[in-house]
Amino acid sequence: MGEDFKRLAAIAALDEVRSGMRLGLGTGSTARHFVDLIGERVAAGLDVVCVPTSEVTAAQARALGISLTDLETTPELDLTVDGADEIGPGLALIKGAGGALLREKIVAAASARMIVIADISKKVAVLGKFPLSIEANLFGLGATFRQIEKLLVTMGAQGGLVQRRRTDGSAFITDGGHVILDASFGRISDPEALADALIDIPGVVQHGLFIGLCKRAYVAGPAGIEVLDA
Ligand code: A5P
Repeated sequence: MGEDFKRLAAIAALDEVRSGMRLGLGTGSTARHFVDLIGERVAAGLDVVCVPTSEVTAAQARALGISLTDLETTPELDLTVDGADEIGPGLALIKGAGGALLREKIVAAASARMIVIADISKKVAVLGKFPLSIEANLFGLGATFRQIEKLLVTMGAQGGLVQRRRTDGSAFITDGGHVILDASFGRISDPEALADALIDIPGVVQHGLFIGLCKRAYVAGPAGIEVLDA
């Protein structure tokens, strides 16, 4: 059922796509549906050029015959469609479970419009139940880890900080060559303050709080599609 909802949300977002657009393609299981749909439209004649937010999405798009570009050649995009881990009030988001948050945020910020597609389970009254992904530089990781741990205490986090690992125990490394630290807050009462405090830590490359970036969310559930506007 969850997959059906993800696909329904992706279909709804297709309405915003026009020929000639420069698109950002998100990452994750929901964005994957959208990329599949774009592939079908491209095969039927849709003319778009796309910037993928991860190597995984790039590979999927290439296999579907979607034209790819990058932000050097195409620094401004018309629309980015991506998934989210949580959608909170004001369309503030938690993203990054797939580890693509840095590229996702760069691409979203380069887009005139970013929209999110999701199943209903992602809509929350307060952000923070889902762990917040924090991308950190390998250099000085111990110090960065300690500084984030202290911030968690200051911010009243209910859980701790863990470095993300693959199933074989090796460190998860992002497309940009960094590690991911997952912070369990339980409840993020002031997302803006947390975002500012995290980005002030020098070893933090980026974090998964997307504030003020998302303009619309298509949320699919048993009652159909809900459209949320910022
Ligand atoms: C990738 O890094 C993430 O930001 C995803 O967009 C997010 O985790 C949503 O993924 P799903 O659509 O698989 O839930």
